[in-house]
Amino acid sequence: MILTLVPVALFVACSSSSSSSSSGGSSYATCTSEDLEQRVDELVSQMTLEEKLAQMSGDTALLGEYGRELWYVPGVERLAVPPFKMSDGPRGVGVHDGATIFPVAMARGASWNPELERSVGEAMGRELRAIGGNVLLAPAINNLRHPSWGRSQETYGEDVHHLSQMGVAAVQGIQTYVLANPKHYAANSIEDTRIQVDVTIDERALREIYLAQFRAAVHEGGAASIMSAYNSVNGQFCGENVTLLRRILKEEWGFDGFVLSDFVLGTHTDSARNGLDLEMPSANVFRALPSLIESGDLPEEVIDDAVRRMVRKKLQHKLDQPSPVDESVVASPEHLAIAQAASTEGTVLLKNESGALPLDMATLDRIAVVGLLADTANTGDTGSSNVRPAFVVTPLQGIQEAVGEQVAVDHIDKDVLDAGDLATIEAADAVIVVTGLTAEDEGEGIIGAGDRVDLGLSEERVKLIQDAAAANDRAIVLLEGGGAVTMGDWLPDIEALLMIWYPGQMGGHAAADLVFGNANPSGKLPLTFPIDLGQLPAFDNESLSVTYDYFHGYRFLDRMGTTPQFPFGFGLSYTTFSIDNLRASQTQGAPGEVLRFTVDVTNTGTRPGAEVIQLYVSYPSSAVERSERDLKAFAKVTIEPGATQSVELSLPVNSLAYYDVADATWVLEALNYEVHLGTSSRDLPLAASFSVSATGPVSLY
Ligand code: BGC
Repeated sequence: MILTLVPVALFVACSSSSSSSSSGGSSYATCTSEDLEQRVDELVSQMTLEEKLAQMSGDTALLGEYGRELWYVPGVERLAVPPFKMSDGPRGVGVHDGATIFPVAMARGASWNPELERSVGEAMGRELRAIGGNVLLAPAINNLRHPSWGRSQETYGEDVHHLSQMGVAAVQGIQTYVLANPKHYAANSIEDTRIQVDVTIDERALREIYLAQFRAAVHEGGAASIMSAYNSVNGQFCGENVTLLRRILKEEWGFDGFVLSDFVLGTHTDSARNGLDLEMPSANVFRALPSLIESGDLPEEVIDDAVRRMVRKKLQHKLDQPSPVDESVVASPEHLAIAQAASTEGTVLLKNESGALPLDMATLDRIAVVGLLADTANTGDTGSSNVRPAFVVTPLQGIQEAVGEQVAVDHIDKDVLDAGDLATIEAADAVIVVTGLTAEDEGEGIIGAGDRVDLGLSEERVKLIQDAAAANDRAIVLLEGGGAVTMGDWLPDIEALLMIWYPGQMGGHAAADLVFGNANPSGKLPLTFPIDLGQLPAFDNESLSVTYDYFHGYRFLDRMGTTPQFPFGFGLSYTTFSIDNLRASQTQGAPGEVLRFTVDVTNTGTRPGAEVIQLYVSYPSSAVERSERDLKAFAKVTIEPGATQSVELSLPVNSLAYYDVADATWVLEALNYEVHLGTSSRDLPLAASFSVSATGPVSLY
């Protein structure tokens, strides 16, 4: 008999209650905090300095193809402290061949359905845990300050409240199985100069617009870790930014998890001292830590604190325990169904003249499906968020499968049409043009295309749409891409437009369901689609220094009084809704209270459908400069034709506070606040008001 010495599993003793997900997720956060802290102390006190330092840097060489093995960070084997094993990223488990590829985050943001996003996060976490990983480098929750940002597709949109809701849901879903890693903290929204650019932001804009979603991820989501950004903020790189990392995140917010660097170039001389706990993907700057400790330049407590944070999260989330799921969950039917639902719910119907959509198969003989992207697996950029699924259902395949033998499909696999193609299109009952952007147009810098300087489609693709539309009255465009597209030159020519984004591996089925009316579009834009670049704040992809003020996206357009092509929150349906009878739980609010606003939503059309009720607040006579309107609550509701449903939206009074820079406090103003409800940022037919008389500092957490 062979006796093997196994490390004592110190973690297993730390359990009391357990919270498990319906789908068998591991339990976590089951130690009382005293037990937990005691165990963390016990473990860290038994570690040598060398063992501690080893845990502060990744140990993965950047060799071979990027992101093809789990990024490894040592634990301490003799103490049964497990290593971290990390994978990107926001649209699936990038490291694993055959993982489910979900629609990009922007598409999921367009679902305005945090519950669905929780399922997506849970599915990603489950797949990562099944293949032996324990940290998912997601979600990306940077504000989309400008749609030219090459990584638009990785985040959920332009609004801080919407981003918070989606980000919290993703974190909670992911952390059913593994640790989440909200990124990139903070103000990371230019790609081409991301390594050098310094972002100047006044403290109020920083707190209210750029950091609030990270605070939500920490406080509401319980995020175990945070990734710092490459760029600098107010003159100090985020990876060594003492204000962001120590003062705000760790001290003020009380974050008890750990911060890891963005990869390779995200760590700097003062990183460890200023609150960065882990250099990724391998030791570079942190190779200097032993000599800094030895010389007394860096107190060993800094090291202890960093290691304690990582060990704490390993214990709390039971990373030492075997995976509760095996590899059969990877791309399981359940996960593929979630990917398809995310694409269906995230697709936004932007135009539908004369009821061009949905197509009724019974009335069609033949349709033309046109464009190089029709049968292309166009799943997003090829940077760190890339995922390699076993298969991708393209729009063409989805359409062909949906129509079967019933309708003939003429596939024209070109972007430049000749006379024969035009004759084919003319002979069809409808033409579906699949076009848009690809990884060659936008993506992560260095390994991808970077920022977009122009928001339009290429001339060739514009002409493709125009030519197809000239040949057939029923021209429908399925548009792919990760952000806003300007379309004034071709939009008037077409009958219907579905924004399908980069829709993931099941996107072809989702698109076909929507085109033929087996599903009803319910997505809403999570960002403004401008008429042209001139409607937006300036964006310079070469700038090394930029100032971010309070206003971008719909807040900027509202302030300027400009009308975009399609506003934030906009999206059509095949049915119609009426919204009536706004009731407020109270007409006066006090600090700490939650006001409730209820409306009756009726499906006045003939198909089941879902509507997103959006609540915006304005602040007449505020003492400080405010947005015309801020999104503060939303709810998605599915209603049968003819039925009416009451929808209640909650508004915490403290969420109306602004950040007072001079006093470094959140201040609730005594005001008559106005509430506007409707179905987009520019369609808000219902209004109410309430007053807050007590004024003064409030706590947001
Ligand atoms: C990206 C991160 C990513 C990391 C690891 C960096 O370049 O900015 O988003 O998680 O690489 O791939």
